Amino acid sequence: MRIVVSGVNPTDWKARAGAGAGRPTPFPEVVPNQDGAGVVDAVGEGVDPARVGQRVWLYLAAFGNPYGTAAEYSVVPQERAVPLPDGVDFDLGANLGVPALTAHRCLYADGPVDGRTVLVAGGAGAVGHFAIELARAAGATVIATVSSPEKAALATAAGAHHVVNYRSGDPAGRIRAAAPDGVDRIVEVALADNLALDVAVAAPHASIVTYAADAKQPTLTVRDLMTRNLVLRFMMLYTVPPDALARAVADVSAALAAGSLTPLPAHRFTLGDAARAHDAVQGGAVGKVLIDV
Ligand SMILES: NC(=O)c1ccc[n+]([C@@H]2O[C@H](COP(=O)([O-])OP(=O)(O)OC[C@H]3O[C@@H](n4cnc5c(N)ncnc54)[C@H](OP(=O)(O)O)[C@@H]3O)[C@@H](O)[C@H]2O)c1
Repeated sequence: MRIVVSGVNPTDWKARAGAGAGRPTPFPEVVPNQDGAGVVDAVGEGVDPARVGQRVWLYLAAFGNPYGTAAEYSVVPQERAVPLPDGVDFDLGANLGVPALTAHRCLYADGPVDGRTVLVAGGAGAVGHFAIELARAAGATVIATVSSPEKAALATAAGAHHVVNYRSGDPAGRIRAAAPDGVDRIVEVALADNLALDVAVAAPHASIVTYAADAKQPTLTVRDLMTRNLVLRFMMLYTVPPDALARAVADVSAALAAGSLTPLPAHRFTLGDAARAHDAVQGGAVGKVLIDV
């Protein structure tokens, strides 16, 4: 791969800062960053030579592989280089990997979402953004929570039908007003903070799918969860079952080709400033941190 744009996610600075410490790595040195977009420069044995020159987006480039995307060139297994449809630029390609595939799994692990109501907590975040876009494109009614007018504008632009500030007033009441029968699927970024809210707005048989781990631990209200047969699901992209990952890649590609996905506002860095790019993500940049290679 010749990398054109590298996308930075929280997982990249966490891994670089030692989140995987204690787990043995077979590599003496690794290049960071899972996501990116570029052009196939050369192919290995068994790969269709016609792929040379193909524009692609990359996912999991640095997973079990020393060649992440913060470099001029990378080497990845062929399935992790996915063709970019005509007219889709490298920036959008570099937005996709971790956030869009995570959003897809959170939405679909418990079945289709068309005709359902989906609550996306933190709708202006990278995963939240693609959860809104994928759910809306699939025919769901989408409610997003945010903490500010700036983030409300992002969630609305992504297509959320209802946007609720979770830090003021009565968020459960406002979500209930938008979804009187309750929400069917909750894509959750802060389980400990939001579990009580989630339980208050969940429909019977709803799934609460959490993909982020912070230091704070949730308090489980088991009877509340049990009486409505709620599902509490945990999701980690690196260990999603292979068939579900393949389906996520196919569905994200289809949504991309259909024009249903958009990039977040970009914060751009040069490759020489890759360390500052990681710091920006760690500092909670709103939007997408990209490295121009
Ligand atoms: N399990 C996985 O495979 C996986 C995959 C992707 C990401 N992640 C993790 O998920 C987290 C988010 O990733 P990201 O790339 O989407 O980050 P991001 O772009 O920084 O977005 C995080 C969003 O969460 C919102 N948020 C924080 N606390 C909240 C709360 N109590 N209620 C509602 N929203 C809240 C933030 O907005 P406000 O602070 O304004 O509310 C922000 O919009 C990171 O910890 C990342 O490591 C895990």
